[in-house]
Amino acid sequence: MSGRLDWRSGPAGPLRGGVGVPGDKSVSHRALMFGALAEGGSRIRGFLEGEDTRATAAVLQQLGVRIETPAAGERLVHGVGLHGLHASGEPLDCGNAGTGMRLLAGLLAGQAFDSTLVGDASLSKRPMRRVTDPLAAMGARIDTQDGLPPLHVRGGQRLHGIRYELPVASAQVKSALLLAGLYAEGETEVIEPHPTRDYTERMLAAFGWPISFEPGRAQLSGGHALRATDVDVPADFSSAAFFLVAASIVPGSELRLPAVGLNPRRTGLLQALRLMGADIRIENPRESGGEPLGDIVVRHAPLHGVELPEALVPDMIDEFPALFVAAAVAEGRTVIRGAAELRVKESDRLAAMAAGLRVLGITVDETPDGATIHGGTLAGGTVESLTDHRIAMSFAVAGLVAQSPVRINDCRHVATSFPGFMELANGCGFALEAAA
Ligand code: S3P
Repeated sequence: MSGRLDWRSGPAGPLRGGVGVPGDKSVSHRALMFGALAEGGSRIRGFLEGEDTRATAAVLQQLGVRIETPAAGERLVHGVGLHGLHASGEPLDCGNAGTGMRLLAGLLAGQAFDSTLVGDASLSKRPMRRVTDPLAAMGARIDTQDGLPPLHVRGGQRLHGIRYELPVASAQVKSALLLAGLYAEGETEVIEPHPTRDYTERMLAAFGWPISFEPGRAQLSGGHALRATDVDVPADFSSAAFFLVAASIVPGSELRLPAVGLNPRRTGLLQALRLMGADIRIENPRESGGEPLGDIVVRHAPLHGVELPEALVPDMIDEFPALFVAAAVAEGRTVIRGAAELRVKESDRLAAMAAGLRVLGITVDETPDGATIHGGTLAGGTVESLTDHRIAMSFAVAGLVAQSPVRINDCRHVATSFPGFMELANGCGFALEAAA
C-alpha cells in the first residue's frame, strides 16, 4: 500500500437512507481457507473485497490454490484437499491482517513444506507468541523475531492434539489451533476464558468436519476431510458499527442497514448503545448458512454515559473506537474496563482514541485496561489514525457532530476492511472528503 490519504469530515446530517455495508471480514478469511483445503469447488458470495481478505486469497494462490473472481464480491475457490498445498518460494504477505497471519500460521504448521509469513509495518508489531507458543506445544516449529513477525513456519513436523486454555479471549488464536488440529494426531481442545466468535467452528461443521463446540469450548480431531461448500457472507457488523453510532448521534437521522450478520459474539456494541439510550431495532431476523442476520434500523436518540459491563468486551472487541465517539457526545461519563487487548490491535486503540478525542476537546482518563470518557462537545481539529482503519472511520463519524471539520491523517488503511466507505458515508449524508 503506498501514498498517503488524509480525510476531512465536516459537520453534516441528518443521515438518511439505506446503507449496504460490505461482507464480513472474519467470515471471508475463513471461507477462503476452508474452501482451499476442501475437495472441490466452493463459491463465496458477499466476499469482502478488502485488502486484508485479498491478501489471504493471494497467499492461498501462492500455495497453489486456483481462485476465480466471477464478479466483484464473489470467489470460486478450487479446493486442493487437506494435503494439496504446495510450497511457495516467496514470503507470504498477509498485509495488515492479523486474522490472516494468525490463522495461516496454524494452517501452515501442519504442512510438509516450509513457509514464511510477513506483514506490513503495523502487523509486524503485533504479538505472535500467543499463537506460536500453543502451536509449539502441538509439535509445530515456528520462529519469530522476538515474538513478532515474520513467522518462519517449518514444515514436516508431526503435530499432536493438546488441550489448551487460552490466557486471553481470542478467536484468532482459537482458530489457529483448530486449523493445526486438522493435521494433528488425536484431539485438539480449546477452552476460552470468555466465548469469542465461533465462525471457525460453524464453518468447519458446514464443510463436514466433525467438531463439537459450545460457547467457550471447541474440540476436534485430525484425520478427516473437508467437503466443498458454498458460503454466503453476511454484511460485517463491525463495518455497520460506524453507521449505528453515526445515526445515533446526529439529530434527525434514520438509517437502515440490510442483511447484517448478528452472531451474538459480535453484537456487544448493539447492547452497549442500547444501554446508553440508543434507538436500534432489528427487522426481518433470519438465518443464512447457520448464521443469524437481520436488517438494522437505527434512529437518532440522546445518549447517556454508562459503566460498560466487562462481560460485553469480547463481543465488541473491534467496535471500541466507534463506542469512544458515542461516549464522547453522550451526557455524563462512560467507563470502560477489562479492554487491555485494545492495545495490541492494528494500533493501540485505547491510546489512539484517547489522544484524538483530547485534540477535539474531550476529557479522557486512560487506564491500562480502559478509559473514562467524559461526554461533551466536540471541537474540530487534526487527529491521527495511526494507520488504523477503525480509528480513521471513527473520527470520520466524530466529524459529523464536531463544531468544525475534523482532519484525519493517513486513512489509506480503511480499504483493508471497508472499501467504499467514503462513498457510502457521503451517500447517506456525511460530508467526508480527501483533504489536501
Ligand atoms: C478476529 C478476531 C478478533 C478481532 C479481529 C478478527 C477473527 O481478534 O479483533 O478483527 O476473525 O477471528 P482477536 O482474536 O485477536 O481478539
